[in-house]
Amino acid sequence: MRLRELQALGKLKSILVTSPLPQDGKSTVALNLAVALAEEGKRSVLLMEADLHQPSLAQSLGLERRAGLAESLEEDVDPMSLLRRLESLGCYLLQSGRPKGNPTELLQSDSMSNIMGRLSQHFEWIVIDTPPVIPLTDTVLLSRLVDASLMVVRADRTPKDAVDQALAILGRKNVAGLVLNGAEGLNKQYYGYGYHLKK
Ligand SMILES: Nc1ncnc2c1ncn2[C@@H]1O[C@H](COP(=O)(O)OP(=O)(O)OP(=O)(O)O)[C@@H](O)[C@H]1O
Ligand SMILES: [Mg+2]
Repeated sequence: MRLRELQALGKLKSILVTSPLPQDGKSTVALNLAVALAEEGKRSVLLMEADLHQPSLAQSLGLERRAGLAESLEEDVDPMSLLRRLESLGCYLLQSGRPKGNPTELLQSDSMSNIMGRLSQHFEWIVIDTPPVIPLTDTVLLSRLVDASLMVVRADRTPKDAVDQALAILGRKNVAGLVLNGAEGLNKQYYGYGYHLKK
């Protein structure tokens, strides 16, 4: 809802989803966020698999790997021609593809900002799944090309030091919010909260 509010103010279209370390839940949160923002296809939403090192989105959706962002960057293929509509989820997917060169250098190229520019014209939201911040510089490069970054933190798993370090690397002012993933018990703790608010 907060993201929709910001969008209504005309400030937000592209959102990067990252986290300090591997396996915090970036891809899971990016996918769920894209589906939520798509509102069953009412909004045009693109989910971009920009983790060119260890892409997992296509695989977790049961899709075969095909050309995507890497080919668009390396071979100047129009990214719009590589999109796949995820009918049951109401959004579009740009897969990572298979980079031939160094993924970090690829994302650094001017082509990436051109691709973002081209795609922005066609979508209300672009949600970008990225690699973890601490071991790789890819996300810092990408964060300069987006309107906002979200930091996923996995409950009982991501060390506090790692969160601080990742926020320092990205710059606190560039992080629009934290997403606490896998917080068991939180729902129970606040259970009944809505009830008390009702008159
Ligand atoms: N809230 C959750 N509850 C249960 N399992 C989860 C939750 N979030 C993520 N997972 C599982 O944890 C694993 C890692 O999640 P995911 O792939 O989303 O993380 P990631 O940060 O994208 O990892 P990577 O750094 O490898 O890209 C997956 O098997 C996923 O299904
Ligand atoms: Mg991932």
